[in-house]
Amino acid sequence: MTSIQADIPADHRTDGRAGSLLEGNGLWKAYRRGWWPQRRTLQVLKGADVTLRPGEIVGLVGENGSGKSTLMKTLVGDLQPDRGTVERTPSFGYCPQTPVLYERLSCNEHLDLFGVAYDLDPAALSISRQRLYDELDFARFADTRVEELSGGTRSKLNLALAMIHDPDLLLLDEPYAGFDWDTYQRFWDLTAARRSAGSSLLIISHFIADEERFDRIYDLVDGVTEQR
Ligand SMILES: Nc1ncnc2c1ncn2[C@@H]1O[C@H](COP(=O)(O)OP(=O)(O)O)[C@@H](O)[C@H]1O
Ligand SMILES: [Mg+2]
Repeated sequence: MTSIQADIPADHRTDGRAGSLLEGNGLWKAYRRGWWPQRRTLQVLKGADVTLRPGEIVGLVGENGSGKSTLMKTLVGDLQPDRGTVERTPSFGYCPQTPVLYERLSCNEHLDLFGVAYDLDPAALSISRQRLYDELDFARFADTRVEELSGGTRSKLNLALAMIHDPDLLLLDEPYAGFDWDTYQRFWDLTAARRSAGSSLLIISHFIADEERFDRIYDLVDGVTEQR
């Protein structure tokens, strides 16, 4: 059995995900702060579960400080959970809450860098880059360095970097915090297009107004996810 499994591409194996793109089960995470005798433990996750199947847009909501970003970091592998398991497709993109960008590089240089990291061929990279510039309307900043960009355009680039390789699964942490109304609408058009193509998105949000945009919602309350 194992030798047969080893010959099958990782994203087609019959592992714990069984048809889903992401499966987080019983996730626990605590942060430890300070030193003895002032040492404190903040228990953030207490058995959270998240499942994403192909072709859905799922919201992750909860109060400020409830642990949404912590949960997403464990799902993408940025943080190791204390307990619990995560299985995910290798084809995923992550947009962190705080943009991780290089001040001295332009938008084009960022997208090229990520394209190479994802092993995209030059033609695919060029098509994907142009599509994202059009969808998010920031082609005019292609050659502008990040240090000269507004917060909103930085957020667009941060999102575009998560999507440049057109992954099956997108995990987005408050991706439109700095967007104006037009970009916010564009964002929802873009997510709908990816869902129609069979991709899945997990989106952290704290706007009540967004709730009708989601197919399902996970509420993070007291360290566990409640499904609505
Ligand atoms: N690296 C860290 N070290 C210690 N505490 C942290 C760390 N990151 C987050 N926290 C704390 O964990 C709690 C959950 O944070 P976070 O996951 O960012 O919540 P949310 O994204 O829902 O606002 C908060 O009380 C926050 O202060
Ligand atoms: Mg957060």
